[in-house]
Amino acid sequence: MSESTASAGIPVEPEHFHPIAREENLVRVYVWEWPVRISHWVIFLSIAVLSFTGYYLYDPFIISRGGGAFLMGRMRLIHEAAAFCFIGAVLLRLYWFVKGNRWAHWRTFLPLEGWWRRGFGKQLKYYLFLSRDPESEVGHNPLAAATYVVVYTLMLVEIATGLALYNHILGSRVLGFFVDWILRVINIRYIRETHFLIMFVFFAFVIHHVYSAVLIGIEERSGLVGGIFSGYKFFPAAFVASDPTRRPHEEKIPAARAGRSHKLRTRRRE
Ligand code: HEM
Repeated sequence: MSESTASAGIPVEPEHFHPIAREENLVRVYVWEWPVRISHWVIFLSIAVLSFTGYYLYDPFIISRGGGAFLMGRMRLIHEAAAFCFIGAVLLRLYWFVKGNRWAHWRTFLPLEGWWRRGFGKQLKYYLFLSRDPESEVGHNPLAAATYVVVYTLMLVEIATGLALYNHILGSRVLGFFVDWILRVINIRYIRETHFLIMFVFFAFVIHHVYSAVLIGIEERSGLVGGIFSGYKFFPAAFVASDPTRRPHEEKIPAARAGRSHKLRTRRRE
């Protein structure tokens, strides 16, 4: 079978693949468009910087020497600069929830259809050791998607509380129009505490997130981790062809191939 398939308009010849990939007739699918990837990595880097500098603002763990050092001021400035990068990346991703492809679109994150609700339960069973195979999707599996809804919501809470704390000092009327109501409704000490504690939720998320990305990538052999860098994931042609929702541009993928193997093959078990 030497037929080519396409991803985002780029023809892919199976001959270019490693022999094992050719034998399984893998095709690559352009899943994560650049706004998803850019926003993902800017969010990751900015959270790293925000956590380091933010923890310093909470508990200055470096002693600065010399009268002119003013380390606290520098940390605060870096924290604010990273925060605006973070806000920009989140805004870009919010826009892409509307403009992006089917795997970036907001609809894929919510339990609107049967496949989503079934997949959620199946993936949960997998993590509870009640099922051997993960629920494979070209985009996010529903359990991951639901987690990302929580994570993006927490990012918005982090932004809102951060801007409220920022404007408490800045006193801008424009920014105050958007965030000062938070200070009126919630005592500032709780705003600060919430802003601080969400950082630890992000830490916990990242530990599981990286673990599960590597795990599922090994299980389904889809190049999942590489996908968030390159945008592409790899699947057997039959798996992609058997369901129109697995294709970025339906017309560019050949119709279902011979055989009925439209379940994704997972890691070979000895
Ligand atoms: C602060 C750190 C991180 C946060 C907040 C974060 C958050 C997210 C979110 C929200 C998504 C969904 C993408 C979307 O549709 O918008 C995602 C996807 C992904 N992330 Fe992260 N991430 C972080 C760090 C990392 C790291 C260090 C890795 C490295 C392995 C990683 C690997 C991935 C992969 C592979 C996907 C795509 C999963 C798939 O194909 O279904 N992430 N991440």
